[in-house]
Amino acid sequence: MTMHPKDLASHTFRKRFGKDPAYLGLAPARVNILGEHVDYNDGFVIPAAIDRATYIAFAPADSSAGHSTIVAADFSQEAVFTPESIPTKTGADRAPLAEWARYPAGVAWALSETGLTVPAMEAVFASDVPRGAGLSSSASVEMVFAIAWQTLGGWSLPPMQMALLGQKAENKYVGVNCGIMDQFASACGVADRLLLLDCRSLEWQTLPIPENTAIVIADTSVRRKLTASGYNERRQACEDSVKILSKDLPGIKALRDVSVEDFNRLCGQLPPVVEKRARHVVEEVERSRRAIPLLEQGKIHEFGRIMNECHASLRDLYEVSVPELNTMAEIAQGLSGCFGARLTGAGFGGCTVNLVEKSAVEKFAAKLAGRYQTRTGLKPEIYICHASDGARTIS
Ligand code: GLA
Repeated sequence: MTMHPKDLASHTFRKRFGKDPAYLGLAPARVNILGEHVDYNDGFVIPAAIDRATYIAFAPADSSAGHSTIVAADFSQEAVFTPESIPTKTGADRAPLAEWARYPAGVAWALSETGLTVPAMEAVFASDVPRGAGLSSSASVEMVFAIAWQTLGGWSLPPMQMALLGQKAENKYVGVNCGIMDQFASACGVADRLLLLDCRSLEWQTLPIPENTAIVIADTSVRRKLTASGYNERRQACEDSVKILSKDLPGIKALRDVSVEDFNRLCGQLPPVVEKRARHVVEEVERSRRAIPLLEQGKIHEFGRIMNECHASLRDLYEVSVPELNTMAEIAQGLSGCFGARLTGAGFGGCTVNLVEKSAVEKFAAKLAGRYQTRTGLKPEIYICHASDGARTIS
């Protein structure tokens, strides 16, 4: 049996540093239920933090030179950096930091840019979030390190501020131009609730998970490829469309400001690919607006249909799906007890999210796994997930 990542982090800490960790922390992954590729268009997203997480065992380091020693237990690798080496993305030995080490280093960089104390730390982290699967493993790493440095630094930031600093680390240090959704969900998660974030005002609230409904994640086992370039290209197309449309719609700042009617009237001005990308966003913002009252009123069948529409739009207009995600969503949508199924996260591989009637969950999972395997020859992982609280220290 493999060790739980919390135990793996503590155990590895004791072995590597010869003492008990002073603290343990965790930051959850997230699943996005609706509002895909709209966070960087000022839209609305409905994610939840889930019960898969990155765990950290940590203690202040006894280093006058400010060396932080970070161990990635899942890769059996270690990185050492200092306040001087961090801005150049190198370790204390001046060699470039490994890709995984750029997440903790990026968080240290973003925190100190803001003027917060980032004490030297000894830490081991481990995770049960599959990487490259659309569940935000990287945001959970960022948020767990933010929590650890907060604990040692003696300062305290509201969770949304932590999320913004994590996003800054990813945008400016790691170099992925992501929106705010993932870090937000990891920082602000609430047990047994969905989250609703207005990505323009950053106001947020929770929404109920409809009664008798389970959130089921189905991992295609296909891992993302070329995500950063595909993602950044899509983001650029959205910005281009705003520039063109603003000639007729002065005052728009983002695609969120464009109604479906205005879009239909003006879309002929856009190059064909840009038009498809922008149409997805404009319609997805409209879908989320329609979906919010449905969730509040427990109208799960209608909400599920909107999820299915979202999948079709990500497949045909935004073109971020892959055949395996389409197969997984299509099988699920035809099974009894399934209200809605769609790819979740950035796409290009990874997982689908399914809302399923609780009493039908076991049959649903077995049939979905069997049929997917028959059709693709790939073994999926399917699990029921529980909405959970956000990043925090646990002892
Ligand atoms: C990734 C990004 C998020 C968001 C989603 C797509 O997970 O990190 O900011 O844009 O893709 O909705």
